[in-house]
Amino acid sequence: MDTKILKIIEDNIDENLINEAVDKIKSGGLVAFPTETVYGLGANGFDESAAKKIFIAKGRPQDNPLILHVSSIDQVEELVMKIPEVAKKCMEKFWPGPLTILLKKSDKVSSIITAGLNTVAIRMPENKIALELIKKSNIPIAAPSANTSGRPSPTSAKHVIEDLNGKVDIIIDGGNAGIGLESTVLDLSGEIPMILRPGGITKEDLIKIIPNIEVDFAIIKEDENIVPKSPGQKYRHYAPKSEMIVYNGEVRNIVETISVKTKEYISNGKIVGIICTDETKEFYKEGIVISMGSRKDKKTIAHNLFNTLRLFDEENVDIILGEGVDFSFLGTAIMNRMMKASGGKIIEV
Ligand code: TXA
Ligand code: MG
Repeated sequence: MDTKILKIIEDNIDENLINEAVDKIKSGGLVAFPTETVYGLGANGFDESAAKKIFIAKGRPQDNPLILHVSSIDQVEELVMKIPEVAKKCMEKFWPGPLTILLKKSDKVSSIITAGLNTVAIRMPENKIALELIKKSNIPIAAPSANTSGRPSPTSAKHVIEDLNGKVDIIIDGGNAGIGLESTVLDLSGEIPMILRPGGITKEDLIKIIPNIEVDFAIIKEDENIVPKSPGQKYRHYAPKSEMIVYNGEVRNIVETISVKTKEYISNGKIVGIICTDETKEFYKEGIVISMGSRKDKKTIAHNLFNTLRLFDEENVDIILGEGVDFSFLGTAIMNRMMKASGGKIIEV
């Protein structure tokens, strides 16, 4: 398949180009598009055969459900049994934005989308290209992150091209994704409101509206005895090609341990990548060192994480040694992605 790249500028959207993408969605094609979190791989959410194509293009396991993207709160009505008051509040406060809400699905939503579950995940993205694409298509757009399953999520069109060129109809190049990590997945379908995947909207943000909110323990602790409530969380994910180990604890200890380990690996002939922070960069004398940003600025760290993992793939490193961060605010989302990327290899030092 020939993949067409459409360059669209978020603040000056070209009508003809967006219409081309809209036509493709409506006729059952696959269109990758930018959102403020990561790039999505979109298809008509009411077209089962289009949705099936998403799973094939990504190599995605069939039991991992898709998010439906909407451009208005009204659009949610027909997709769910009912919208509880607390869900409405969250939509009004955080949409458009990086919050995905799980509710009991209506009959209109195909079980292909929900992977047989009786809940559906819905989000209104903030990126103007995404919103325009959904609004003009006039249907909910099913979209997972636009990466090959298991790889780090794409934060630029370049990443999408790396993974999906030749497998999708259109890739919209709308520049870099601002947040750089996927949305928070919040389950409001049951008795207990629960974060199933941490993301751009933090627990600290949500607790103001939902005082009894809980966090699925599986998202911050890798343990084969704990089954995550969100199917996507059970896979090794966001993973670079090489092995990765994350060290967390006091910053001084982290730097010391990574330095010693780096020396060891290099003396065994390995190419070592180090993911560090602005505060620690100067302390590393060996290895390929990339800082994700300042420890005081988790937004920047989140923004750079996936890109850094892909950069190390290009460098063909044998092992990545990464610094962990504390769990407050965006720290939970960052550590969740690092945990997944490393296959749970987080070592306290
Ligand atoms: O920021 C985002 O959420 C991006 C952009 C494109 O919107 N999308 C994204 O989609 O990250 P994806 O498919 O890569 O991740 C969706 C996550 C998966 O972990 C999936 O298992 C979970 O949401 N999910 C979707 N529907 C669910 C459901 N009904 N119950 C539990 N988890 C669900
Ligand atoms: Mg994904």
